[in-house]
Amino acid sequence: MNDLILRAARGLPTPRPPVWFMRQAGRYQASYRKLRETYTLPEMVRRPEVAAEVTLAPVRELGVDAAILFADITTPLYGMGVELEIVEGKGPVFARPFSGHEDLKALRPLEPERDVPFVLETIRILKERLQVPLIGFAGAPFTLAAYLVEGGPSRRFLQVKTLMYREEDLFHRLMDFLARSMARYLEAQVRAGADLVQVFDSWVGALSPADYRRYVKPHMRTLFGLLKPLGVPVIHFGVGTMGLLQDMREAGGDVLGLDPHTPLPWAREVLDKTPVQGNLDPAVLFAPKEVIRREVLRILEENGGRAGHIFNLGHGLLPETPEAHVRYVVDLIKEVER
Ligand code: CP3
Repeated sequence: MNDLILRAARGLPTPRPPVWFMRQAGRYQASYRKLRETYTLPEMVRRPEVAAEVTLAPVRELGVDAAILFADITTPLYGMGVELEIVEGKGPVFARPFSGHEDLKALRPLEPERDVPFVLETIRILKERLQVPLIGFAGAPFTLAAYLVEGGPSRRFLQVKTLMYREEDLFHRLMDFLARSMARYLEAQVRAGADLVQVFDSWVGALSPADYRRYVKPHMRTLFGLLKPLGVPVIHFGVGTMGLLQDMREAGGDVLGLDPHTPLPWAREVLDKTPVQGNLDPAVLFAPKEVIRREVLRILEENGGRAGHIFNLGHGLLPETPEAHVRYVVDLIKEVER
């Protein structure tokens, strides 16, 4: 068993940084595009044999040091009674955006064994086939709330912020509901065999530090507090989070995911010995190999050989990324060991 990522997540020394990629299963892979001719994303997620194969493909094709469960951050929302669709090139789009107390009452608290049994079955299949650790994951309350209230992807997050400011009590109740549901979801993933978990707070960078502290941090504390007894490492990730990083660390998680705009040496300084993950710009994978090499080596140098670095992108792989360039990054990281 390759346990590099588990060691790095604990801040223990490793001969080289472990490497994996957010959104490492997806449309940039020929094998994935082929499967998508037969199944939609929700169909793939609901078929454990297919979801397990999709999870395994990047491990085989790229040689990464971890697998990430194939599902979407919206997967548990279906189980909670929310109607939504994944629109290609756009993202999740909801039939009826969340707008008031009635919508909160209509949400079912997630019971993973009842609502997402296929996810747990996928994990059980994977545990028999994997030689690298399996990462379970969930969306963070704010990122899920943003999708629910906006009704889909957003640039300005005006709907969710308006609800947050105008109906603070309802907002907190929604956030608490999501935090507790996602804690149960992640707990079920760990019981089924996930070796570590990542919490994606992808859109939290839309908030000022003051708003983060008031509206989000208490719920992140609830979530991470509920995850602590599980005893697995927890990665806490968001985008646009440079101004939030210290608060995010205080909120919880063993590893902080850094976006591409956060200087790694600065993060290591302010986070002290907290392990970090990141933070290559996904756009660099569209550059010529010399540029990719320069950027990968820069990040390794910026970390300066310190323990507790998981190499990754600063955000998810983009669908048009050249596959060979993704493999090239893994090869470069593995060269470091020699
Ligand atoms: O390989 C993996 O990383 C595991 C699977 C995974 C998916 N989504 C599969 C997926 C993970 C970890 C996610 C997380 C996710 N989903 C996030 C957090 C990560 C981040 O990027 O910040 C977010 C914000 C979503 C919401 C979402 N779902 C988006 C923005 C999209 C892309 C829409 C598009 O067409 O570009 C999706 C759909 C989605 N989720 C795909 C995959 C493989 C593409 C589906 C397809 O085949 O069309």
